[in-house]
Amino acid sequence: MTTIAPTSDAIAIQVQDLHFHWHKGSVVLDGCCLDVPKGEFWMLLGTNGSGKSTLLKLLAGLLQPESGSIKPLPKLGFVFQNPDHQLVMPSVGADVAFGLAAEQLTAIQVRQRVHDALTAVNLQALIQRPIYALSGGQKQRVAIAGAIARQCDVVLFDEPTALLDLDSQRELVAQVQRLVKERGLTALWVTHRLDELDYCDGAFLLEGGKVIDQGNPQRLRDRMMNEKSEG
Ligand SMILES: Nc1ncnc2c1ncn2[C@@H]1O[C@H](COP(=O)(O)OP(=O)(O)OP(=O)(O)O)[C@@H](O)[C@H]1O
Ligand SMILES: [Mg+2]
Repeated sequence: MTTIAPTSDAIAIQVQDLHFHWHKGSVVLDGCCLDVPKGEFWMLLGTNGSGKSTLLKLLAGLLQPESGSIKPLPKLGFVFQNPDHQLVMPSVGADVAFGLAAEQLTAIQVRQRVHDALTAVNLQALIQRPIYALSGGQKQRVAIAGAIARQCDVVLFDEPTALLDLDSQRELVAQVQRLVKERGLTALWVTHRLDELDYCDGAFLLEGGKVIDQGNPQRLRDRMMNEKSEG
């Protein structure tokens, strides 16, 4: 049973005492708590299988927790590791507009939202471009533009740079950092790439079903590098 706990207006993403398991006997989240302040860019670290993707799915309402609470996130965007799993239309402009189909907007309003969102991710020149003719980094930016067009205030990213080369990786993470600053978005970004910690405001370390460390990203990066070198 999920209860909605009282939350502060300054917190965009709030998770309290979350419990979840996929199979009996295999606990994935075991009293997980985290708060992401509004308008900040936070990252989520943890070893393979520690439950990062499961936590994002719970936040997105794709799974239901056994107990604990999650602050409702009505205007939520989700960017996956592989953009081919979420771009559904044949061209850039059509894909960004597709996400607006459920809203009561005029054709002019849709065009304006699509233009504004593509400008925000520097893809306005590619509005007519077929999706198949984009690079991996450009596809990820189309997915982000979809969230901006829907005026999402929280965006979850599940290893969005895992398939990108170094230059596209840096470009994408820097772009999200800019969007957070300029548009007041709140972002939670799962990664294994420790160099990305330079771009965020804070980070969480998930282990044993709980957040066991959080805060300054450089300190967390040093902790992870030390653990790697010792292990
Ligand atoms: N659909 C599923 N059905 C059953 N078990 C699952 C499912 N998805 C994930 N799990 C299990 O839940 C645990 C957490 O998986 P999850 O994908 O959340 O980890 P992760 O931290 O995202 O890992 P990675 O860094 O490899 O992406 C793992 O033990 C995994 O095997
Ligand atoms: Mg994962």
